[in-house]
Amino acid sequence: MPRKLFVTTALPYANAPFHVGHMMEYIQADIWVRVLRMQGHEVHFVCADDAHGAPIMIAAEKAGKTPQEFVAEIAAGRRQYLDGFHIGFDNWHSTDGPENHELAKDIYRALRKEGLIAVRSIEQFFDPVKGMFLPDRYIKGECPRCGAKDQYGDSCEVCGAVYAPTELKNPYSTLTGATPVMKSSEHYFFQLSSQRCIDYLRQWTGHAGRLQPEVLNKIKEWFAVDEQGHGGLSDWDISRDAPYFGIDIPDAPGKYFYVWLDAPIGYLASLKNYFAKTGRDFDAFMADPAVEQVHFIGKDITYFHTLFWPAMLHFSGRKAPDKVFVHGFITVSGEKMSKSRGTGISPLKYLELGMNAEWLRYYIAAKLNAKVEDVDFNPDDFVARVNSDLVGKYINIASRAAGFLSKRFGGTLTAQHAADGQKLIDAVMSQSREIQRLYEEREYGKALREVMLLADRVNEYVDQNKPWELAKQAGQDARLHEVCSVCIETFRLLTVYLKPVLPALAAQVEAFLRVAPLAFADVDRPLGQHTIGEYKHLMQRVDPTLLDALFEPPPAPVDATAVDEPGGEAIAETIAIGDFSKIDLRIAKIVGAEYVTGSDKLLRLTLDVGEPKPRNVFSGIRSAYEPQDLVGKYTVMVANLAPRKMKFGVSEGMVLAASHADEKANPGLYILEAWPGATPGLRVR
Ligand code: MSP
Ligand code: ZN
Repeated sequence: MPRKLFVTTALPYANAPFHVGHMMEYIQADIWVRVLRMQGHEVHFVCADDAHGAPIMIAAEKAGKTPQEFVAEIAAGRRQYLDGFHIGFDNWHSTDGPENHELAKDIYRALRKEGLIAVRSIEQFFDPVKGMFLPDRYIKGECPRCGAKDQYGDSCEVCGAVYAPTELKNPYSTLTGATPVMKSSEHYFFQLSSQRCIDYLRQWTGHAGRLQPEVLNKIKEWFAVDEQGHGGLSDWDISRDAPYFGIDIPDAPGKYFYVWLDAPIGYLASLKNYFAKTGRDFDAFMADPAVEQVHFIGKDITYFHTLFWPAMLHFSGRKAPDKVFVHGFITVSGEKMSKSRGTGISPLKYLELGMNAEWLRYYIAAKLNAKVEDVDFNPDDFVARVNSDLVGKYINIASRAAGFLSKRFGGTLTAQHAADGQKLIDAVMSQSREIQRLYEEREYGKALREVMLLADRVNEYVDQNKPWELAKQAGQDARLHEVCSVCIETFRLLTVYLKPVLPALAAQVEAFLRVAPLAFADVDRPLGQHTIGEYKHLMQRVDPTLLDALFEPPPAPVDATAVDEPGGEAIAETIAIGDFSKIDLRIAKIVGAEYVTGSDKLLRLTLDVGEPKPRNVFSGIRSAYEPQDLVGKYTVMVANLAPRKMKFGVSEGMVLAASHADEKANPGLYILEAWPGATPGLRVR
């Protein structure tokens, strides 16, 4: 009986192009979907942009666009990645589409009817300049414990303290720099802490085989209530006040659904949109108890998908998901990806360099398992796995046999196999169920290992029979024909097994073998006496220098004469006044300056900034100034820079000096000097 499935990946925020983490998630889900389709099941696989929320609204505003324009531009960029990496979504939609507005309101009304929505007043920080309640990430201030400046509203990066944004000292809005004020407003809550929800979720999460063991452990922690009654599930704040880019809450003027309420509903909206386009009945499909609903997500969004989402669906009278598959994060050469530092590999650059998308699909698949484990992209490992396994073991089989077949036997295979050849074919065939099982359990690494072990056996068979020698020997035609036919037949079987990972390559192989699109059922249908096409090389090896290019940092302008940027570099990204005000610049009097033994670049400066004790600062200006030229001068220093321990002592700040981006081509270093009248400690703003 064919199964019916509805599969999704998480909906990416529509505020940036895809990164390699997104591609990993899509590759994982796409392989799974292809496996089930190749087994003959009916699978609908959709995704969408997650369009709503304050960050997108603010990013759009900064870009001088409406949020709708902003997300439409991001959406327009999706295709090239999805096609480029052969991600076979049936539909790509947006959570700002009409289906989602409607479904979100329907679900909300149903939850309200169930008595699971509560309204409470809460006090929150409000930016009086912007006229907007501030999400925590837009509030900074001094750590209530250690006093470190410019700490976020939830925790201190310096001492590790965890607190509420309201506990910050001297808080400010990072949007405007304004001091936020406390203001109360009514918020809508989904009562996740109600006994009904708790009972339901215990049952849903506890259902055998639904969630991975590590995920269940996490959920256990979330449910746990300690002796003082702390912990456990709390009600979920699902509303935000205008201005907000989102879906308006019925009967609540000026209130919008928090982005995470309507985001997962976007799964349904995308399916509904797709079904409408293809003339299918969405409501009937969703009500069908046989339909399996499966979500692929990353570990960071487990809470939303294993607590809020099933409860929302269940208590609004819908079916909850059958499975939530959680994966770890991809790291690059062991490092966490980060937007600010720039991440090792960009999927687009990968494609632009002409790198084969299926190398990455194969590599990621080879490293994936069913656990919530991080996966590391390691360039050397990448080259080794693709070149020695994929090309060296698998592709090699076809290239070793195809030439003889076409030159000597008109491209027609023989169905007459001696015992050794038949035994090999049977051995390769017999792994079909096990490989399918491993794929379905998302043990892709193990599945591919099985496939490569089989490829090893085929290559051993080739090495034992040496077709290149048979070809030279008289009277060995039949044996040569048979050996090459066995190679092609096993190559076809291996192609079936690899097709979920390498769909484009499999299509080339199908054309070469002149067979219809391969599915798992084809394992049991031998080619027999069949004529194949001309062999053309199927896949290149990875040229390792491509990886250097992939990781290459953005080129800095080298030849200053060739760039017309002021000072040899482009003006930096626009910042808000709040960003600038984080830098505390002060007038400093240079009261001492001396050479530093052991350094030909540094001078040690003693600076009076109006504090009881002068500051000690090491400055890389020795090439431009003699100590005696500096003493007595007034300059500008960064007074709130974290102290830096150097070989020669601790540097407690930095003095400002001008220089060209390319100091070699355009030498010259000019320290800033204050106009007469400025005194130590005055702030520069
Ligand atoms: N918009 C939300 C999801 C809403 S789902 C109803 C979101 N978007 S996201 O763009 O930040 O992340 C999308 C998916 O990418 C998530 O599953 C997330 O876990 C995954 N990944 C983000 N960084 C990742 C890696 N470095 N590695 C692997 N997956 C990563 O969260
Ligand atoms: Zn602190």
